[in-house]
Amino acid sequence: MADFVSNFWSWFIIIPTVAGILGLVWLIRWMSEKPGAAPVKPESMGHVWDEDLQELNNPLPRWWLGMFYITLIFGAVYLVLYPGLGTFKGILNWTQVDRYNKEVADADKRFNPLYEGYLQEDLRTLVHNPKAMKTAARLFMNNCTICHSSDAGGSPGFPSLRDKDWLYGGEPETIKQSIMNGRAGVMPAWSAALGRDGVVNVAEYVLSLSGRKVNINAAQAGEEKYKQMCAGCHGTDGKGNTAMGAPNLTDNIWLYGGSQKTVIQSIEFGRKGNMPAHKDFLGEAKAHLLAAYVFSLSTGNLDK
Ligand code: HEC
Ligand code: HEC
Repeated sequence: MADFVSNFWSWFIIIPTVAGILGLVWLIRWMSEKPGAAPVKPESMGHVWDEDLQELNNPLPRWWLGMFYITLIFGAVYLVLYPGLGTFKGILNWTQVDRYNKEVADADKRFNPLYEGYLQEDLRTLVHNPKAMKTAARLFMNNCTICHSSDAGGSPGFPSLRDKDWLYGGEPETIKQSIMNGRAGVMPAWSAALGRDGVVNVAEYVLSLSGRKVNINAAQAGEEKYKQMCAGCHGTDGKGNTAMGAPNLTDNIWLYGGSQKTVIQSIEFGRKGNMPAHKDFLGEAKAHLLAAYVFSLSTGNLDK
């Protein structure tokens, strides 16, 4: 609210809200009997059903009228205490942010000793602790599924964490590093250096590495370029390099996709995968627990 550049939107909310409440008070008073006035004989509204059932203009019952007044008073008191009228903060100074921070602090106080306990345990031991893994699965749901998907199977550009194919390495300590410090994969663009034909040739060679049917001549032409320009990162055998997150190109598991078109795209324009660092956001204890969990997904040795 306080971010508005002018007061216009604040008044845009305040004026109709206050006018609405005052208008309703006026409407109720207008529609109800004047106190002390002699009761008026109800008149027919001119609608008749079932021969003799008439609609009369009786005043509202008192209890019902009372409820209208109560809701109006509730609304007015609420708008004085809590934020609701434009940028007016309410006299209690209540904010969603404070409330959220308080809940986080309460939760930290309750659960931190538990996480700190897990942090003392070896990652490979932690995998066999079903209670820890259940907590970790929830952490994963809350923090990781938006990118790695709910079954950790990944999607184009976001690696699967269930398989044994690792960009940076699948040792539990390495996984922890990936989570804590993040990762930034950089695959340069080659369209300028290789030209369209060069890119297509080298793509044919890359596809041949995982046993795909390719144009032999193109692949042979591509092999030479591969040795000069790609082997430094992806290895002469194409098996990749975990030190820089260069994927294995021989296993037919693709980070971005293995169709000829997608592989050409990866080479032509380059790729920049980014795994955000979670150290500050989650803290080491939670990252530790998540590392054990991710390790358990890929090794499948989680006690059921
Ligand atoms: C500087 C190191 C480096 C060089 C040189 C390099 N790559 Fe890459 N390559 C990477 C990295 C890192 C990735 C993963 C990018 C990411 O994580 O977003 C990648 C990704 C790829 C992919 C996508 C793989 C997938 O699973 O979807 C292909 C295909 C590829 N490279 C082919 C090549 C070819 C062909 C060359 C040579 C023309 C080459 N690369 C040169 C580092 C390199
Ligand atoms: C904003 C999206 C995003 C979020 C959120 C995210 N990741 Fe990632 N993660 C990625 C991307 C993209 C990569 C691949 C980086 C690359 O291409 O170099 C990755 C890589 C990884 C790797 C390395 C995989 C390998 O093959 O070496 C691990 C482990 C990992 N993430 C675990 C997690 C965990 C656990 C969480 C939750 C705390 C998480 N990630 C949250 C996007 C995300």
